[in-house]
Amino acid sequence: MGLFSLFVTLFLILNVAVICNGGITSKFVRKVEKTIDMPLDSDVFSVPPGYNAPQQVHITQGDHDGKGVIVSWVTMDEPGSNKVLYWSEKSKDKHHARGHMVTYRFYNYTSGFIHHCTINHLEYDTKYYYVVGLGLTERQFWFTTPPKVGPDVPYTFGLIGDLGQSFDSNKTLSHYESSLSKGQTVLFVGDLCYADQYPLHDNNRWDTWGRFVERSNAYQSWIWTAGNHEIDFLPEYGETVPFKPYTNRYPVPYRASGSTAPFWYSIKRASAYIIVLASYSAYGKYTPQYKWLEEEFPKVNRTETPWLIVLMHSPWYNSYNYHYMEGETMRVMYEPWFVKYKVDVVFAGHVHAYERSERVSNIAYNIVNGVCNPVSDQSAPVYITIGDGGNLEGLATNMTEPQPKYSAYREASFGHAIFDIKNRTHAYYGWHRNQDGVATAADSMWFFNRVWYPEAEHPVSQ
Ligand SMILES: *[C@@H]1O[C@H](CO)[C@@H](O)[C@H](O)[C@H]1NC(C)=O
Ligand SMILES: *[C@@H]1O[C@H](CO)[C@@H](O)[C@H](O)[C@H]1NC(C)=O
Ligand SMILES: *[C@@H]1O[C@H](CO)[C@@H](O)[C@H](O)[C@H]1NC(C)=O
Ligand SMILES: *[C@@H]1O[C@H](CO)[C@@H](O)[C@H](O)[C@H]1NC(C)=O
Ligand SMILES: *[C@@H]1O[C@H](CO)[C@@H](O)[C@H](O)[C@H]1NC(C)=O
Ligand SMILES: [Fe+2]
Repeated sequence: MGLFSLFVTLFLILNVAVICNGGITSKFVRKVEKTIDMPLDSDVFSVPPGYNAPQQVHITQGDHDGKGVIVSWVTMDEPGSNKVLYWSEKSKDKHHARGHMVTYRFYNYTSGFIHHCTINHLEYDTKYYYVVGLGLTERQFWFTTPPKVGPDVPYTFGLIGDLGQSFDSNKTLSHYESSLSKGQTVLFVGDLCYADQYPLHDNNRWDTWGRFVERSNAYQSWIWTAGNHEIDFLPEYGETVPFKPYTNRYPVPYRASGSTAPFWYSIKRASAYIIVLASYSAYGKYTPQYKWLEEEFPKVNRTETPWLIVLMHSPWYNSYNYHYMEGETMRVMYEPWFVKYKVDVVFAGHVHAYERSERVSNIAYNIVNGVCNPVSDQSAPVYITIGDGGNLEGLATNMTEPQPKYSAYREASFGHAIFDIKNRTHAYYGWHRNQDGVATAADSMWFFNRVWYPEAEHPVSQ
């Protein structure tokens, strides 16, 4: 008994010490294993049977409001059909939509026939079946459109970043798929397949990745953010146009939000307004992205979409010893707007670990006043780094010490998160490390909306 109370006392002292430092650095102990890519003959990469069978089927939102879907797929043997056949569970009337096809070369790699087909004017909150590959080999899938945009519409987003295609990536995706809160759409914060880690950026690894995530991405929209592993800039081999594989394969509805490039754009989905920013496109003053964002924030109507979510690849607040200050210049440019317009939460990736911040801002500095520490700010977003999808580069384990005050929770484990919007005031957020059962959230918190219920939150971490 005496020993037990000693332990309890020690535990409490340690806990207090950790809290005084700032937030919590998780004491979770992982098995240390190398993160390796699944070999080319893995089950998850298998090619669907049949001549010219469509593969790498994936969908994303196709318009600004959620009534459109872009269906993409690849055929390998010949171009095949551009059409998508679809019908709603309610009406059963069959419709066709016609898409277009692209191919690209990357040094000596030639892509398959990549098809993109936008289906518009769908009904909200409706299950649709769709068929690609009309003619020779057909494959059928389904998706459910989001409910009509509105302030109290519950909706559940999954968060995945820096996924790659290792055995751990497969665990992350499986864990997300079996999540009890049933994510309806993935907000993907960049760095998809890591093909650029292979000689000549072996673009066959873009194809394997497309086949790997099809089991989720053919059935629910993944909202794309461009990361550094999408740049594929290889001038010594004549590849001088950045983002070539990514833009050919993963279209986004950027024109619908008045954007002029696919790397920054916005969508509305249910009760959320999602702004996607580009860490690897110019964002300084007068640049297209800057001008777009300047006009974009005032358009967000929190009566219609209470939840304002921003996605970017490179985090602004990061207390790991990786990618030091990479997000800093964008933070300096845009953070005052994030506070002014009361962004609820910012999700980023890039650092291969997990971290959640307190609500802080750091916008007082003006070159001469020396005021440059993050301060508690209830109008500021919570910053979450979720670059822990499991890619071959492995975990970022080296943290700055002591943990800065603004950092609420950090842990170097692979996982995914769920942002579960209940209504205009409340959203439940949980981070799920891969080692845990589906019911466990290693870090969680009730988010209070910054416009409708701007009270301080009381995170419950363990
Ligand atoms: C591309 O070039 C590399 C290096 O020269 C070579 O190993 C590879 O087999 C080539 N691939 C194709 C499809 O020609
Ligand atoms: C990937 O995960 C799925 C589902 O959990 C499993 O069926 C499959 O065997 C796994 N593949 C590899 C290569 O780990
Ligand atoms: C904001 O959205 C609400 C609800 O849809 C609407 O009634 C209101 O007119 C909108 N406000 C503006 C400024 O557009
Ligand atoms: C962690 O990062 C710091 C700062 O970059 C470095 O000085 C230190 O050697 C690193 N520690 C380990 C164990 O790699
Ligand atoms: C919003 O959801 C929270 C959490 O489920 C609940 O406690 C609260 O009563 C809800 N608010 C309204 C107005 O329904
Ligand atoms: Fe990255």
